[in-house]
Amino acid sequence: MICTYNTLIFSGLFDHHLTLAPKVETMYSPQSTKALQKETVDFLKKAVNGKIGAKEIESLRQVLRFHEYRYYLLNDPLIADPEYDKLYKALEEMEGEDASLVSSDSPTQRVAKGLTKAFPTVQHLVPMLSLENSYDSDDLISFDRKAREGTGVDKIEYCVEPKFDGGSISLIYEDDMLVRGATRGNGLEGDEITSNVRQIRSIPLSAKFSDYGIEQIEIRGEVLINKDKFAKFNQQLIEQGLAPLANPRNAASGTLRIKDPQEVKRRNLEAFVYNISFYVRSKKAAKGTANNLQTHSAALEMLWNLGFRSPQKEKKVFKGIQSVIEYCNEFESKRDDLPYEIDGMVIKINDVDLQDKLGMTSHHPRWAIAYKFKARQATSKLLNVEFQVGRTGSITPVAKIQPVHIGGVTVSSISLFNEDVIREKDLKIGDRVLVERAGDVIPYIVKSMAELRTGSEKKIQFLKNCPVCESKLFKEEGEAAWRCINIECPAQVVERIIHFVSKDAMDIRGFGDANVRKFYELGLLKDIPGIYTLDFNRLGELEGFGQKSLDNLQSAIENSKKQPLHRLIFGLGIRFVGETTAKTLTQAVDHLLDLKDFTLEQLQDLEDIGPKVAGSVFHFFSNKDNIQILKELEKLGLTLKNQKKQHSSDGNLTGTTFLFTGTLPTLKRSEAEEMAEANGGQILGGVSAKLNYLVVGEDAGSKLEKAKKINTVKIISEAEFLRLLKK
Ligand code: IVH
Repeated sequence: MICTYNTLIFSGLFDHHLTLAPKVETMYSPQSTKALQKETVDFLKKAVNGKIGAKEIESLRQVLRFHEYRYYLLNDPLIADPEYDKLYKALEEMEGEDASLVSSDSPTQRVAKGLTKAFPTVQHLVPMLSLENSYDSDDLISFDRKAREGTGVDKIEYCVEPKFDGGSISLIYEDDMLVRGATRGNGLEGDEITSNVRQIRSIPLSAKFSDYGIEQIEIRGEVLINKDKFAKFNQQLIEQGLAPLANPRNAASGTLRIKDPQEVKRRNLEAFVYNISFYVRSKKAAKGTANNLQTHSAALEMLWNLGFRSPQKEKKVFKGIQSVIEYCNEFESKRDDLPYEIDGMVIKINDVDLQDKLGMTSHHPRWAIAYKFKARQATSKLLNVEFQVGRTGSITPVAKIQPVHIGGVTVSSISLFNEDVIREKDLKIGDRVLVERAGDVIPYIVKSMAELRTGSEKKIQFLKNCPVCESKLFKEEGEAAWRCINIECPAQVVERIIHFVSKDAMDIRGFGDANVRKFYELGLLKDIPGIYTLDFNRLGELEGFGQKSLDNLQSAIENSKKQPLHRLIFGLGIRFVGETTAKTLTQAVDHLLDLKDFTLEQLQDLEDIGPKVAGSVFHFFSNKDNIQILKELEKLGLTLKNQKKQHSSDGNLTGTTFLFTGTLPTLKRSEAEEMAEANGGQILGGVSAKLNYLVVGEDAGSKLEKAKKINTVKIISEAEFLRLLKK
């Protein structure tokens, strides 16, 4: 039997009591949580000896699903990451040994190999409609009036939930298994993106709809990227010389169409589901076996109980529109505290029969309305474009606009990133521009309004010379940014010092951008080593510097000398070297100056270091002035030694060099490296004749190929490595 959610929901099959089920906090009861926790401990013990039997494989999967649920949905994990990894690896190994044990909803089956060739167009089972918008309490009052007139009900019950600002998706489950994921597309047809949807941890690969008497179901939801993950992702783009994405919404919907599922996985998308559009009732379903789905809030609760992230905790049910308005206002004030973006609230008539009575237009349902929060967009005039020089010499155009208030902040300066952005947006000085500021995200120009031009607008002239030192600008092939390559350029020197003292680098509090600029302009600070030879007597003569702030600054400078090596490497501001690469480089050396002996090839052999990064590091350490600066810093008392890398001199691996590559069956690479080092072994940064053992896991790449060409390198498995340890 086929039912659309709004016409035939379980009619005649189940009891129609309207009371809501008690609020649930988790789909697992306290008893089952305890039982699963006990099983976890048992499996962890067994995993060490490889003693999990084939019969237990489904229980192991259940345990992993439980911990994924705790982690991704409740944000309240009950085990540590390495413990989860151990169980996951154990499952992977069991499935690897016997392919007949694999099931498509196994936690291991989120990993997609290879690239998606195309996203076929698929038809939605029910058209994906849009929502009518409302902007103030009057709009909501008039929506309520029409709803009361249409239904004949005096005081309507509404379910109110956030309006998530991401990319909408539809999911189909058949016989409890996720079988299809699709984008909204034009509402009738979308792109089939199942392989990408499988990478989103808050979307279950299987769910027990059969317990609710459902055989096939189509669910609607929104895919989001958390604000902090978005900020990190943009930071990486900037480090790579690429323009950052405008907002989390574009990042989420863009990611859904990426053809590399591994990249989708890396971006850590989240998904909320908020609507059932269609289902087919199973023939076997007997009266009374399922939950009461007569209300929207009960549907959200069912989805939550099945392991989906529905707005179960965020939703509220009210009788009458007045409390709805209050809840919308209350939520708007909390908007910035949420980890993800919402752009309003959605108000839905709770009773499904009443929804049916009102029906829908060709565009939107009459039983729901979106309440849009105050716009974070405004129009303004583009007054001028200024050019800033970054620490690596890149020239960034910055739009100066007539100041406008957006979401409680006055915006007058907006980065345009590079020349291409100016061209793509067809910007001219004097243009009216649309500006958006999404949440914590930096403001950006959405577009210029070409139709409002008067003819007096001026073309933006891009510079040929550096605005600070006047050197000729260059643009490398394949790069978007123009660059000043004068390393002595005062703007670059100042920016480099600012970066060096910043929180994520050497974290010298009390400096701040303004002080660095001031000291530089007064000739009191010329370069990075100058930080450690500052003349505090002269600083004391400056206006606004009390003894206390000077003492604080002095001790912050002193403390920074003990910062770990990776912070110093990051602080040097080498192009393309972010915090992660800085840690990788640290791992590869005993002393920072070892890097000057690395060849381009050796650098590329390091984890996640490609030709571009390797070239930049090589270039930095081939420059005599840079080496001189590093030596000076060492003399001034900074730590250039990798202090974490102390080799045990009396283990059974003493004098033996190792390198780990690929995914090891049970150990994390960092764990294996620690084990080798603890036994006196030394970890090398890349494959060379100095290497004794290359320990290879799954998907080992170029390192393995290279090692095969060097006779002296022994290629071994993790198991053989563990045997070496025991010898
Ligand atoms: S209900 C038939 N609920 O907003 C009604 N939509 O502007 C289906 N959206 O296309 C939509 N959060 O992509 C609904 N809690 C929520 C939502 C939501 C975000 C999106 C959805 C829809 C768009 C309308």
